[in-house]
Amino acid sequence: MSEESRDPARQVEACRVCGGADWQEVVSFGPLPLANSYLDPADSFDDEPRHPLGVVSCRSCRLMSLTHTVDPEVLYRRYFYVTSDSETITRHMRAIAELCVGRFAMPRGGLVVEMGSNTGQQLAAFRDLGMEILGVDPARDLAAIATGSGVETLPDFFSAATAARIAKEYGRARLVLGRHVFAHIDDVGDIVRGVRELLEPEGVFAIEVPYALDMLEHNEFDTIYHEHLSYYAVSTLSTLFERHGMRIVDVERAAVHGGSIIVFAGRDDASWQERPAVAELRRLERVSGFFDDATYTAFAGRVEHIRKTLPPLVRGLVADGLRVAGYGAPAKGNTLLGVCGLGSDDLEFCVDTTDLKQGKLQPGAHIPIHSPAYGAQHPPDVYLLLAWNYAEEILRKERAFLESGGRFIVPVPEPRIVSAEDL
Ligand code: TYD
Ligand code: ZN
Repeated sequence: MSEESRDPARQVEACRVCGGADWQEVVSFGPLPLANSYLDPADSFDDEPRHPLGVVSCRSCRLMSLTHTVDPEVLYRRYFYVTSDSETITRHMRAIAELCVGRFAMPRGGLVVEMGSNTGQQLAAFRDLGMEILGVDPARDLAAIATGSGVETLPDFFSAATAARIAKEYGRARLVLGRHVFAHIDDVGDIVRGVRELLEPEGVFAIEVPYALDMLEHNEFDTIYHEHLSYYAVSTLSTLFERHGMRIVDVERAAVHGGSIIVFAGRDDASWQERPAVAELRRLERVSGFFDDATYTAFAGRVEHIRKTLPPLVRGLVADGLRVAGYGAPAKGNTLLGVCGLGSDDLEFCVDTTDLKQGKLQPGAHIPIHSPAYGAQHPPDVYLLLAWNYAEEILRKERAFLESGGRFIVPVPEPRIVSAEDL
């Protein structure tokens, strides 16, 4: 078998939202390793798998899609990503539960089903509000951890077939939730049709996705990695839902993960009135150039600028004898390092709070990952803030590092250095 035919990455053909095939090329980052495939230390990484990574934009519905889709069995069955145990996210999850239950007047005891429920933290927040809960997650180890902690979780991919099985065994759902999973799904039509059947007549489907407008405006190119097949705006999601018997009834912007939207949809025969925020964001998308080729060309130009300026900034500091390390080892950091060609010659180590990542190496860049305690014992002069989506929380937490002369490089929207004086 040739190397090519064994590659589990398939090239995108028709648009998964509208079926169109008129794609505008946006960025192409070449072959990169999977961003969550952290490595055990080894003598050689010659056979580390790499797959093409690039983004195109559909000229009809403006879905931004990866150029290649990696087989989900390869991506998710043995999955290391665990939801960050951060203050920001814990607070956000509680707010989501209150928002859904409050705004849509959900009766206690109603069933909440979450797809991609990870270790069950979000569902536990719904249980605290008196809801029945059920998780679905294909990562078998994580599903077992969640079930073990009292959040029943089916170790499956969510699909129309899974939805039908849940409806039969557990009854219909008042709420189906998907936080930061929708962008990972290829056959989104199947999911929307499945959710429609699973919902009670007045049930709600809530998804949280990174907002494509924020990604474009703030140059968040590192959120592009093989797991994120799609980058959505409200207009694109409206097209999708309407094709499958649902409609958006409300939307909220949220500051997490570089800017996200929480989109609420109901069945097209439900009685929900569309809230003004839906039309407002669709208008914002139109006037900010979301439908124009020029917007994507300009984004690609800004990404290229970061790719050209960040490595010399880091290498200049290293050449001056300073020690540079990475703060956080998020998946997005692996795109950032891969695109910029930064590696273990540039960054001495990375610190990350996730137990499962400590002791491993970053895919592609092969930088060792240590605990924050290690970082505190061997403080570098400068941290490259790979987990920039938690900038506020991290800069607050690392006050002592900054006050003792330490600095951070924040890579997006444009590389800048933050020191104690900037606080
Ligand atoms: P995450 O935001 O989940 O991003 P991605 O989807 O790109 O993986 O990752 C944040 C990472 O940063 C995660 O590995 C935990 C780590 N982290 C720290 O090390 N310290 C911190 O204070 C916070 C908030 C996160
Ligand atoms: Zn399309």
